[in-house]
Amino acid sequence: MTIILRRVAELRDVVRGWKAAGEVVGVVPTMGALHDGHLSLARRAKAECDRVITTIFVNPKQFNNPEDLKKYPRTEEADVALLNTVGVDVAFIPAPEEVYPDGHATTVSVLGVSEPLEGRMRPGHFDGVATVVTKLFGMTEANRGYFGQKDWQQLQVVLRLVRDLNLPVTVVGCETIREADGLAMSSRNVRLTPQGRGKASILYAAITAAAADIRAGQSDRMAIREAAEAIRGAGFDRVEYIELRDAETLMPSDDPHRPRRMLAAAWLDGVRLIDNIPV
Ligand code: PAF
Repeated sequence: MTIILRRVAELRDVVRGWKAAGEVVGVVPTMGALHDGHLSLARRAKAECDRVITTIFVNPKQFNNPEDLKKYPRTEEADVALLNTVGVDVAFIPAPEEVYPDGHATTVSVLGVSEPLEGRMRPGHFDGVATVVTKLFGMTEANRGYFGQKDWQQLQVVLRLVRDLNLPVTVVGCETIREADGLAMSSRNVRLTPQGRGKASILYAAITAAAADIRAGQSDRMAIREAAEAIRGAGFDRVEYIELRDAETLMPSDDPHRPRRMLAAAWLDGVRLIDNIPV
C-alpha cells in the first residue's frame, strides 16, 4: 500500500528506519499527472531497490511561464492509485511552503549543459530543476534516482550536478516510453486536441528519419531542414529547434565518433512537445 507523506520530517523518519535495516532506497521525482512513462521508472526502481519513493511536486521554480504552471494537470488521487499498482512504498507530496519555506535563498545553477536548447528557450527552467532535484535528493536521502531520457537535457543536467556536488546518489536514465504511434509519453499530451493528437507522432517520425539519413551519409543540415519541413507540413504551429548535439555536453557536434543526440522542440495546438533520439 502506497502511503502519502507530506512533511520532510515524516519522510526522514521513514527513510532512516529503512536505512537502519540496510535497505536501498530509490526515488522517482515527478510532477504528477502520472502516465506509463513514470510508471516504467517506478517499476525499474522497484526492481533495483528495496524501497521506492515517488515524489509528486509541481515545482513552481522551473516554470518560466505562469500560464503553463497554472495549466499543469494535477491528479493526485489517480496518481497515488497508479503508484499503488506498482508497489511504490511512499508518495511524497509536499506543499510548496514545505519545499520553499520563507527565506529560502539558494539556487543551484549548472553551467554549460543547461544553457543551450531548453535552457535558452526557457530561461531559469534548469535552475529550478537543479534546485528542486538537489533538495529532493537531500530530503529523500535516496541511494538511486530515476529519470526519463525523454528529458535528455534534464538528465544530463542532473548527472552533472550529482558529479559536481558529490551527491551520494546514482542517477539512472531510463528509456523513453512511447505511444503505439511513436509519440513520447508526456503529461502535456492530454492537452492536445484529437486532431493534434493525430499529428503529434510526426515529431518522432521526422527526427527518426533525419537520424537515419545522417547515418546514411546525408549532411546534418539538410536532414534537419527536411525534418523541420515535414513537421511544419504536418500542421505543427512552430518548430522551435531541431539540433544535433554532443549527447553529454549538449554542445554542437559534428564529430560522428562521439555519441550524438538529435533533440527537438515544436508547438502543436498551443502545446510544446519535445523529443530526442540517439544518432
Ligand atoms: O521531469 C520532471 O517531471 C521534473 O522536471 C522533475 C525532475 C520532477 C523536477 O521537478
